[in-house]
Order: sequence, then C-alpha cells, then structure tokens
Amino acid sequence: MKVALFASGSGSNAENIVRYFENKKTLEFPLIISNKPDAFVHERAKTLGVPSYTFAKESFQSGSEILAFLKEHDIEAIVLAGFLLKVPQALINAYPDKIINIHPALLPKYGGKGMYGSHVHKAVKEAGEKQSGITIHYVNANYDEGNIIFQAKCTIDPTDTPADIAAKVHELEYQHFPKVIEQLWG
Ligand code: GAR
Repeated sequence: MKVALFASGSGSNAENIVRYFENKKTLEFPLIISNKPDAFVHERAKTLGVPSYTFAKESFQSGSEILAFLKEHDIEAIVLAGFLLKVPQALINAYPDKIINIHPALLPKYGGKGMYGSHVHKAVKEAGEKQSGITIHYVNANYDEGNIIFQAKCTIDPTDTPADIAAKVHELEYQHFPKVIEQLWG
C-alpha cells in the first residue's frame, strides 16, 4: 500500500516514518507533500531519496489538483506529520478513514485552529498541566476532531520549559507513530 506524507515544517516525523518502513515490505512512502517550498522537510526528503513536492495554499483549498496528483501516484492513504493546513474536503471524501494526523498533546484539550507545534506546548505549560502527550487520530473536516486511534502520555516536571515538553512529546512521536501506522495499514 502506498502512503503519502504531508509535512509543513522540519519533517522529523516524516523522516522517522520513512526510515522505519525502509526495509519493510508492508507500506511504501513514495512521496512527501508540503505547502512550504522552504520547509526543512525537503532537505530531509533529498537525503532520504524520496521525492517531495510543494503545493500552494490555494491548491489545498479546492484540493482537486492534489487529489489528481495522489491518484496518479496510486496513493491509498495519507499521513499528516506536522502538517499545518486544513485538509481539503475533496481529499477527506476520497480517502475515508485513510487520513491520519498526529497532534502533540492529549486531545480533546489543546487542539483546534492555531494549536500547532510550540503554540501547543506553551499553552500546556501556561495551564500548569502535569502531563502531556500525543494523539493520533483520523482526520475529518474540523481541526483535531476526528476519532482518536492512539494516545501516549509523558509527565511534565515543574521546571520543564515548553521546549522541554516539545522534546518529550517528540520522543513519544518517534516511538509510537510508525508502529501505529503499521498496525493500521501494514
Ligand atoms: C510534531 O510535534 C507534530 O505533532 C506537530 O508538529 C510537529 C512537527 O514536527 N503537529 C501539529 O502541531 C499539528 N497540529 P516535525 O516537523 O519535526 O515532524
């Protein structure tokens, strides 16, 4: 089964997923899609030897061009790995239960529009939470509201900065995201 990765930023999760499946025969990750031409994920993609493509923000509004592209490449599922735009309805309709996202907190808290990356960890810190974690969920038309597939938690120490929380959350992401994908579709 061929799976597309969508990533907007650094792409460390995308890289971790590609590497995890590199020597397995189960899932293929033949391409990475981004909405940012200068995102570091393109550098990682080059190193990994995976083609990466940028589509403009407008293409993510209707989604028809991206959908045609994915179909052309026989893509059967999509993994959002640090992808920050809303997924177009055309893609949600074309890939029912075949699009998943990772969120760097324990949904339903700290989700929704504008809640991504460091914003999430700052909000978690400001609220004085003693725990954070990751949520892997199906993607529907609303940000961070699709059915939850998997969660894992980490403790927050009183001295932890938002950057410390981010590091703990990233560790959980690297540990669990590829395995959850494998369990779902591998
Ligand atoms: C990850 O922590 C991911 O959970 C988060 O962005 C980071 C991307 O890191 N996603 C969101 O906030 C989505 N709302 P990466 O580019 O190094 O994989």
